[in-house]
Amino acid sequence: MRTTSMTSNSNFYTTEGITLKVCPPSLYRSIIPELAVLLKSCVDSNVTMNFIQPFSLEDASEFWLSAEDNVMQGKQFVVIAQEAKEKPEPKAQAGGLLHDPSDQQEGTDDHVIEPPVILGCVILYLSQLPNAKHRGEVGKLIVGKEHRKRGIGKMLLSCLEDEAREHGRTILQYRKSANHVEFKVLDTQTGSGAELFYEHIGYTKVGVIPDVTMAPDGTQYTSCTFFYKKL
Ligand SMILES: CC(C)(COP(=O)(O)OP(=O)(O)OC[C@H]1O[C@@H](n2cnc3c(N)ncnc32)[C@H](O)[C@@H]1OP(=O)(O)O)[C@@H](O)C(=O)NCCC(=O)NCCS
Repeated sequence: MRTTSMTSNSNFYTTEGITLKVCPPSLYRSIIPELAVLLKSCVDSNVTMNFIQPFSLEDASEFWLSAEDNVMQGKQFVVIAQEAKEKPEPKAQAGGLLHDPSDQQEGTDDHVIEPPVILGCVILYLSQLPNAKHRGEVGKLIVGKEHRKRGIGKMLLSCLEDEAREHGRTILQYRKSANHVEFKVLDTQTGSGAELFYEHIGYTKVGVIPDVTMAPDGTQYTSCTFFYKKL
């Protein structure tokens, strides 16, 4: 059975070689290219993510770049799942330590450290509204296609929930934005795998709004199912 443990610096290490962590603001810009690839692949597979085709890698990067100010100000956090790399083992040091991505620059000619690959991500927004300072909002939960059904989505949300609690948030809902208008509800495409996923991991289903968004390929309206979770 999969197990996770959390360290004092809020990293989750799993027994399956995956590390989960809240991306430190100082590293945020460096992970944007990988986040952009994840987002584009989702939109390309017609998953409702607020975007419509044509949607380029530059468009995806622009989305993540536009979040940078909020990340730097601690208004939102990006939780990432990475393939944990073992630190190259200096002769005198025994045992494989999980590699912290913030150690990336430590590599020497003898010990070249590959940057870990990002397998999935999710955004935690801290509501800034005066009457909702207890609310966290979830957005852009994405696990790379080839890494799904390994528990990564569940672990990303678990890490996000811990972070939300640390910031005094007691309820989570999904956050969707289009043209800078925010809809403060957790919704997912009705009938999609994501809907089943949220039910599986204990989110409460509120209901369905029919034809509320346009599919990324622009061919049809899609219905959304709404969820929340009390922390
Ligand atoms: C939804 C998504 C994040 C799930 O990630 P994942 O890593 O595959 O999910 P997990 O492996 O953690 O699954 C957790 C549980 O949900 C279930 N589950 C996951 N995907 C499912 C699916 N498509 N259908 C039915 N159940 C599913 C798993 O079986 C597992 O159940 P268990 O705890 O009983 O074993 C992933 O499919 C994805 O990125 N989809 C595209 C983007 C998207 O739709 N995001 C959500 C936007 S609202």
